[in-house]
Amino acid sequence: MSECSRFGYEDCKATADWLLTQTDVRPLVGIVCGSGLGGLADMLKDQVFFNYIPSESSLTGLCFCLAVHGHAGRLVFGTLKGRPCVCMQGRFHLYEGYPIQKITLPIRIFKMLGVETVMVTNAAGGLNQDFKVGDIMIIKDHINMPGFAGNNPLAGPNDERFGVRFPCMSDAYDRELRQLAMDVGQELGYGDFLKEGVYCVLGGPSFETIAECRILHRLGADAVGMSTAHEVIIARHCGMRVFALSLITNQAVMDYESEMKANHEEVLQTGKQRAEQLERLVSTMVTRIEHN
Ligand code: 6GU
Repeated sequence: MSECSRFGYEDCKATADWLLTQTDVRPLVGIVCGSGLGGLADMLKDQVFFNYIPSESSLTGLCFCLAVHGHAGRLVFGTLKGRPCVCMQGRFHLYEGYPIQKITLPIRIFKMLGVETVMVTNAAGGLNQDFKVGDIMIIKDHINMPGFAGNNPLAGPNDERFGVRFPCMSDAYDRELRQLAMDVGQELGYGDFLKEGVYCVLGGPSFETIAECRILHRLGADAVGMSTAHEVIIARHCGMRVFALSLITNQAVMDYESEMKANHEEVLQTGKQRAEQLERLVSTMVTRIEHN
């Protein structure tokens, strides 16, 4: 597909229909892999994958291109423990300068591929003082900071074919899926590092100042990151179930006496250490999710 798609319903549909001509996989679960957590996509069997090709001439498009060999930044179809899945191995972020509608476009494509459940992972900084580096936080709610300032992925004309103008977000993070994650986590022996909490998204790419971390903590955020909430809003808008989790890759610095500094290498390093357990948690959940 040489033409890059734009953001409308027809463009999403055309992209999804084209993708479905390239694979026999009919995914019911769509997974977004966060920084350092792309190993989940590597677990898929019988892979068919497509590299992301952001539009060269403008930042308004996104197309997928059938690829022969892999690297991060691709859409992967396959089966995870026998279940048909599609994975975004790598995602788009606000801090890359893309319009928010583009960042969330793949979520709408998931919907049009037939996905019913979206599972989102990310790397995040811990604000909750009870959290440790390496904890896995099941997200129970979010604070969409860019949304406070008008940067919501649903801003602009609403296409009713996706969903309603004013979607509810108080039930965004599916209660049953959160319980399933807790149950599976306990069975796998992850009880000591499996937590639940509120995720706050900021635009990035700079990490938070100490004062910013303190505000976010006081506002009720347990973890802070640069992704996920806008994808979740789009997924809920079009009626998919959502599960999300954060890997706490570092402690956000809250104290002027601290010598700690947030850095991307630490984020990736922690991701590597816990990735296997996180992958086992998500893949086991996939085998237990019931679909209509
Ligand atoms: Cl400390 N902040 C943000 N915004 N994103 C992160 C992070 C911190 N650690 C991992 N991702």
